Amino acid sequence: MKAPIGVFDSGIGGLSVLKALRAALPHEDFIYLADNGHAPYGERDTAHVLARSRAVTQYLVGQNIKALVVACNTATAAAIDLLRAEHPHLPIIGVEPAVKPAVALSKTGRIGVMATRSTLASARFQTLLAAQAGLAQFVLQPCDGLADAIERGASIADATELIAACASNTGAMGLFGTQPGRIDTLVLGCTHYPFVSEHLQALVGADVTLVENGEAVARQAQRLLHAAAGNLGPAVTGPSRVRLITTGDAQTLKAAAAHWLALREPVELLQI
Ligand code: DGL
Repeated sequence: MKAPIGVFDSGIGGLSVLKALRAALPHEDFIYLADNGHAPYGERDTAHVLARSRAVTQYLVGQNIKALVVACNTATAAAIDLLRAEHPHLPIIGVEPAVKPAVALSKTGRIGVMATRSTLASARFQTLLAAQAGLAQFVLQPCDGLADAIERGASIADATELIAACASNTGAMGLFGTQPGRIDTLVLGCTHYPFVSEHLQALVGADVTLVENGEAVARQAQRLLHAAAGNLGPAVTGPSRVRLITTGDAQTLKAAAAHWLALREPVELLQI
């Protein structure tokens, strides 16, 4: 394996980012670590998310990664500053709710943000939001249980429970649509949510724009790797390999990686 790029999330959500990363960096190797054994992050306290992010990063650094993608909004909000301070030579890319692109897209000026409770409460998110204050109105929806429902739904064909979980959140946000006063732009501020975008789109209507940022994160990773290329030697070539690792249920990661990314690699179990 070439020196891989490490990618982690509390579970399978970061696969939405891995998908964009693989498209943007087709020759790179990746290690994807799902911390399912200690999930969800979004309804736990910051100390838990910090401790898990540090442990996972430490493990990935031990696997000789050349860059790290924190493919989790909750972990980025809680831990990215500390991870950067602890690993000053490692390029670290995070993911944050795409509120700025949403402001540029919205015509009604009313924007919905779905994210975990922890992300919405974080100082990092509040700063992000404050920078857009006055430019739009934001309806913030802490989606308790939604990431968990997506984890459970990964290996179940029947989507009834998932659709109900999506509906209870969109239903709480008010009216969607392109008419004045309605939410016309919906930010998916958790990496799990792109996997239910089809259900969300059906619930809010086809004229509402869903905004996610997997591709923006992948472009940023590309830029950072380019900038660091001097230290990393010549550009990589050859096929891309992926290692899949979980601290929890292997079946969930296996099913999600096969279903969404057509990855059939075996899932390694890890206790850290
Ligand atoms: N996927 C994570 C995020 O982007 C959160 C899921 C969880 O609550 O563990 O915020």
